[in-house]
Amino acid sequence: MAEKTTREWRSTLTVWSPEDLDAEDRELLREAHEAASKAYAPYSRFQVGGAVRLEDGTVVRGSNQENMAYPSGMCGERVAVFAAGAQHPGQAMQAVAIVSPSANALSEAFMPCGGCRQVLVEAERRQGQPMRVLLQVRDEEVVVSDSALNLMPFAFEAHGLGGHES
Ligand code: THU
Repeated sequence: MAEKTTREWRSTLTVWSPEDLDAEDRELLREAHEAASKAYAPYSRFQVGGAVRLEDGTVVRGSNQENMAYPSGMCGERVAVFAAGAQHPGQAMQAVAIVSPSANALSEAFMPCGGCRQVLVEAERRQGQPMRVLLQVRDEEVVVSDSALNLMPFAFEAHGLGGHES
């Protein structure tokens, strides 16, 4: 039988109490909560807010926007990242904070979905520098990653697709 090789992925996330974070991170989490309060989630009642801090300090917010035709909705953090890309192209995204104030998120330790992780990874690759990710998984617990890549092992990447900037 042929010898098998393995591919391993090491991902290190740190877990913080919100009060131990520096002021900039706490402020970005506050912005994400503010964003979540503007979610349009009448179907799931699961509100998600995202706040992206750009290199010039600008904060761009997004929240999930649902639709009666369910798949037409969009996740909160993706709205934030796409809005940052649309409104401030060329500005690196230093950090993104992602929160959900909904009760089931807080009880089950909310983490962003795979599609959003893929989008975060591409934003990071595109800007050529890591994006810090702050996830408020519970009231008293913030998971921090120094790079979006830590959240997305073996992310999709297809060089053959071109990837021309414009
Ligand atoms: N949702 C997000 O906004 N972000 C995620 O990472 C996961 C899910 C939204 C989509 C939908 O509006 C609601 O949460 C329930 O899935």
